[in-house]
Amino acid sequence: MEQYIIKGGNPLNGRVSIGGAKNAALGILAAAIMTDETVTIENVPNVRDTRVLLQAIEGIGAKVKYVYNNSVQINGGSICDMNVDYEYIKKIRASYYLLGALLGKYKKSEVALPGGCNIGSRPIDQHIKGFKALGVEVDISHGKIFAKADKLVGGHVYFDMVTVGATINLMLAACLAEGDTILENAAKEPHIVDVANFLNAMGANIKGAGTDVIRIRGVNRLHGTTYSIIPDQIEAGTFMFAAACTRGDVVVQDVIPKHLESISAKLIEVGCQVIEGDDWVRVIGCENLKSTNVKTLPYPGFPTDMQPQMAAVLALADGTSMVTESIFENRFKYVDELNRMGCKIKVEGNTAYIEGIEQMSGTQMAAPDLRAGAALVIAALSADGVSEIEDIEYIQRGYEDFDGKLRTLGAVIERVDSERDAQKVKLKIG
Ligand code: EPZ
Repeated sequence: MEQYIIKGGNPLNGRVSIGGAKNAALGILAAAIMTDETVTIENVPNVRDTRVLLQAIEGIGAKVKYVYNNSVQINGGSICDMNVDYEYIKKIRASYYLLGALLGKYKKSEVALPGGCNIGSRPIDQHIKGFKALGVEVDISHGKIFAKADKLVGGHVYFDMVTVGATINLMLAACLAEGDTILENAAKEPHIVDVANFLNAMGANIKGAGTDVIRIRGVNRLHGTTYSIIPDQIEAGTFMFAAACTRGDVVVQDVIPKHLESISAKLIEVGCQVIEGDDWVRVIGCENLKSTNVKTLPYPGFPTDMQPQMAAVLALADGTSMVTESIFENRFKYVDELNRMGCKIKVEGNTAYIEGIEQMSGTQMAAPDLRAGAALVIAALSADGVSEIEDIEYIQRGYEDFDGKLRTLGAVIERVDSERDAQKVKLKIG
């Protein structure tokens, strides 16, 4: 199994280019099958989640052509199977976007029920409630969702909670329905807007994305287009927090600063300098980080996908901080690993109470999930000594060339896939 070997203590310095947004790409790649014409999508992050979804798209018969590293062409004209196998859903739950896309285009689909994951049970009741509002018959049996409709008719959906996945899935299903669909209490994340913009570039008629009311007027067909995905706000935020943790000076470039506002605001609160350009943000760390409190919220609030990375920064702040997770019920699994690095964090309910320490100490760890894994990496970069992080395939789900980009900033980090190589690297960097 691959692992990272990290020697902490080097402040990160320099510029790093941020890739396309994973959580926009997953909705957009699924949406691309809704036309029989060729769609070219650029700035696709080359990460495990997008690769698996593209395999699922090929699995139902669509044509996928990798133009070059971060661009793909998809043609949904040859789709012959409406059934998305469990093997894909098990690997990446966002394969369920194919349910909305296939329903929208073919009025039927069978998709394996996604299970929970390390951060929570993550039910999909709101997706199903929305499909039913469009006239879809949904039957769940033997771990599969069977959905079909004679025709999809626009409906009015009020989500019981703000849900990114259901907002995207319903935009997909509704854009070819007959009549108007209104989604209320819709998610407003940048990736929601990006999926809506992509669908509109294919000829859909979606208004209000980015607000909590999205109006979709069904059209008869969608056509091919070329589209470039927005930058990944969470990848950018992760490098910004790595600068804070290591007291470095890092510029994240090819970003949309507006999408990073809640992240930048927290960095300023803890004492860092943040300088914004048109498509870059510079973070200058400070010697004495200040404690603060954070509560995760739907956009434009502080993103839950930055919660573990925030805790890693606050673990080094003077005083006691509170981190409250309001989106998922089990997103503190990284706390035990940080405490093994000498941190003093206590979790009670959905709040972590963090008593700042001078410096963490490197040790062996395992990534519990994608963003927790990223948090352990930035903690290890600040720590005294060498750390080994296992189960890094979680991290590779959402970060392209993570260790390579960190090395360009001066990090001492190597990716190894054998104990023998691990020993060699530890001798070299120890
Ligand atoms: C998306 O997950 C992201 N994944 C997550 O990022 C992100 O943490 C999350 O949105 C919140 O921003 C992708 O976009 C692929 P939700 P999603 O539906 O769509 C509950 C990462 O690290 N809920 O907004 O699954 C749900 O349990 C990943 O990149 C229902 O109860 O999240 C959760 O508590 C991790 N019923 C809350 O809503 C439903 O039908 C928000 O979930 C749907 C959701």
